Amino acid sequence: MQEPRLNSLWGKLDLEKASKGPIVSNTQVDATTKSSTQAILQKCDAINYQGGIDSQPFNPFHTAVDSFHDGKASVDGKMMLMSGSYSYLGLGKSARIKAAIDSAFERYGCANQGSRALTGSTVLHEELESSIAKFLGSDSGVIFTNGYLTNYTTISTLIGPGDSVITELTNHNSIQAGVRASGAKVYSFSASNLATLRKALEKAQGTTSFVVADAIFSMDGTILDLPTVVGLCKEFGAFLMLDEAHSLGVLGSTGRGIVEHFGMDPQDVDLRMATLSKGLTGVGGAVVGDTTITKALSRGAHGYLFTGAPPVLETAAALESLRILDEEPEIVVALQKKAQYLRDGFSAKGLPVWGHDGVPIIPVVYDNVEIVYEMTARLFKEGVFVVPAIYPAVSKKTPRVRFSVTNAHSLADLDSIVDIFGQINDEVDAHRHAVISLS
Ligand SMILES: Cc1ncc(COP(=O)(O)O)c(C=O)c1O
Repeated sequence: MQEPRLNSLWGKLDLEKASKGPIVSNTQVDATTKSSTQAILQKCDAINYQGGIDSQPFNPFHTAVDSFHDGKASVDGKMMLMSGSYSYLGLGKSARIKAAIDSAFERYGCANQGSRALTGSTVLHEELESSIAKFLGSDSGVIFTNGYLTNYTTISTLIGPGDSVITELTNHNSIQAGVRASGAKVYSFSASNLATLRKALEKAQGTTSFVVADAIFSMDGTILDLPTVVGLCKEFGAFLMLDEAHSLGVLGSTGRGIVEHFGMDPQDVDLRMATLSKGLTGVGGAVVGDTTITKALSRGAHGYLFTGAPPVLETAAALESLRILDEEPEIVVALQKKAQYLRDGFSAKGLPVWGHDGVPIIPVVYDNVEIVYEMTARLFKEGVFVVPAIYPAVSKKTPRVRFSVTNAHSLADLDSIVDIFGQINDEVDAHRHAVISLS
């Protein structure tokens, strides 16, 4: 079996490298010389080192924003073009969302009243569940407190020891965590070479086989080849779960995601997960599929039962944003056009962008992390707020500056991003470090 690269590539920080010295693992605490507290503090030091980012002249991470504005953010009193946000439909400050939150506040207040299973469920939660299921052409839906938890608890509830899970190598960390927690036998595949999926399915034959993949790969801006994946899952009788975190409200002519993008039947996919914190406006995660499954998740998933309900004001916002999406599909087309506009703008300047047409995540990949830091720092200085994607989010060989587009951007904003980035790229002669493609 091909060993999954989960731990090395995604699951854990490379603490040994990060600390530039020997690592104290959980099993190596020397009780005679070190207390457990000291050992844990040493481990935290290694984590905090973060590859030396604090010693860089500029640390792009954890920047605190004063206020958000259409396509912009104020940082330390300076207005920046925001090109790192996932709020794709740009509805965060819309009057309808504000009215929905105000009305929910009048009805419920802001306090969390407990777990969904106990006293925390409201009719807004239930309305969002049925609405998102209907929107995605599915039987039923269930919502959770955030997207990370949704993947983690769904996967680890539905499969377990004795089952097989077949996971794409670059799936989001929340999927990887759920996969590890499930105790199922893990096989991996690469979306860029689906022969690896066939091989994994062959090896998993005779067991309950659970295939899981992102619909849009958020680090690469690429779309999963769903027709081929569905074909293989059907051939082998495997269960298919998709993460539509970055594709709900983004793909398809009306934002119904990857199934609509490929003109397929929603029933081709057993289970779809989406976050409420990206295309939609809010916080939370949703799973849609067969009622037996969504009911089982609300009865048995620990991440549903043993945590506070999704915040009701955010639930109201997510529900209203779903209504807007349903009533005004033109906002999806507008987003896709803007995404393509930035992509084309970069390409016209000879900047080698990764990803697929119309996807609002646009990575420019370099062969070393220093150039990525330098580009990010210069962009920040020139008024463009964009964060680098580095190891362990991506492979050490392909760090990147990753731009995002939202409907809140004007074309003039996007022109400015292209001009500023193009100029900086020329100034530091970054072209020679560009990675055109993986092969
Ligand atoms: C593909 C994917 N799945 C799940 C999540 C987790 O979603 P949330 O931010 O709602 O916890 C993310 C978050 O970035 C994501 O990119």
